[in-house]
Amino acid sequence: MKALTVIPLKAGSAELSDVDDPPESDGPVLVETLAVGICGTDIEILSGAYGWAPPGRERLVLGHESLGRVLEAPAGAPVEKGDLVVGIVRRPDPVPCENCAVLEWDFCRNGQYTERGIKEHDGYLSERYRITPEYVVKVDPTLGILGVLLEPTSVVAKAWEEVDRVGGRAHWDPKTVLVTGAGPIGLLAALIGVQRGLDVHVIDQMAAGVKPDLVHDLGATYHTGTIADAFPNPDVIIECTGVSTLVLDAMTHVGTGGVVCLTGVSSGGHVVQVDEGALNRSMVLENVAVVGSVNANKRHYEAAAAALAKADRGWLARLVNRRVPLEQWQQALNRQPDDVKVIIEVNPA
Ligand code: BGC
Repeated sequence: MKALTVIPLKAGSAELSDVDDPPESDGPVLVETLAVGICGTDIEILSGAYGWAPPGRERLVLGHESLGRVLEAPAGAPVEKGDLVVGIVRRPDPVPCENCAVLEWDFCRNGQYTERGIKEHDGYLSERYRITPEYVVKVDPTLGILGVLLEPTSVVAKAWEEVDRVGGRAHWDPKTVLVTGAGPIGLLAALIGVQRGLDVHVIDQMAAGVKPDLVHDLGATYHTGTIADAFPNPDVIIECTGVSTLVLDAMTHVGTGGVVCLTGVSSGGHVVQVDEGALNRSMVLENVAVVGSVNANKRHYEAAAAALAKADRGWLARLVNRRVPLEQWQQALNRQPDDVKVIIEVNPA
């Protein structure tokens, strides 16, 4: 079967390869891949900056934002033939650490977890894949191809859970949230904020185009410029860019007793000047909490499935703005100015 593969840490090594059928060892549920979303992590892997091949292998099958249709499932599995499904990305470490032991693999303590399409386990960007029933999540069939947004939504569902848990250290009744970055992660974080009844603000550098429209149509407010000028002192900031200056601005300008949740992975190598004393002082005197958030466990996938199921289909459809056939996968990587989420269609639905 065909699969998009890459030699991790080797730029320009991606190719459409002929690979063996999915190994039985991956699980008894056989899934036909419909589409896979491309995100910043994939771009990093393709650029040679990130990623790990499975042990003893040179190439990794890419793809972790999946949508597929079940071809075969054993009796008693929570999914059956024909179901639309998404595969969970991370697997617990083999030790397992105390968090993986209770299936909170998103908080793995020893770093020995694996991630499909990212770290030591083939991804979903192949014509078919196999998976164990516990790691497959059912998608509302009325979402159709939009189910491909479930994995990135799981990442923000986890971020919101962290915000709640950290905020809940004291009386917590947030009213306002600022999301930094109007990419797919930022827009999906904003969607959940709106679904929670919050006054949602999104800041991005694009002054016009599809991003401001998507934010307005969600019932949220769009800003450009700096946090200090646009919307200072929100109860919550969900940082979705990883841009160092914005990360520092978020920590400086969140409201008293507020929570900043960092979800963007920075590339590193950027040195910014900061008045650490002033930052420390305001964080201490205002009880500011800053929390990092990565990945998602099954509870977050389920929360994400529920959030997408109640979202406006027309709005979600505008997020998935470009669909590229597998044979033309290179086109998915040439970012266009109005791209939000580009997907590779493997077996068109
Ligand atoms: C994925 C996460 C993963 C993270 C780090 C993100 O793009 O959505 O599931 O944990 O990359 O590898």
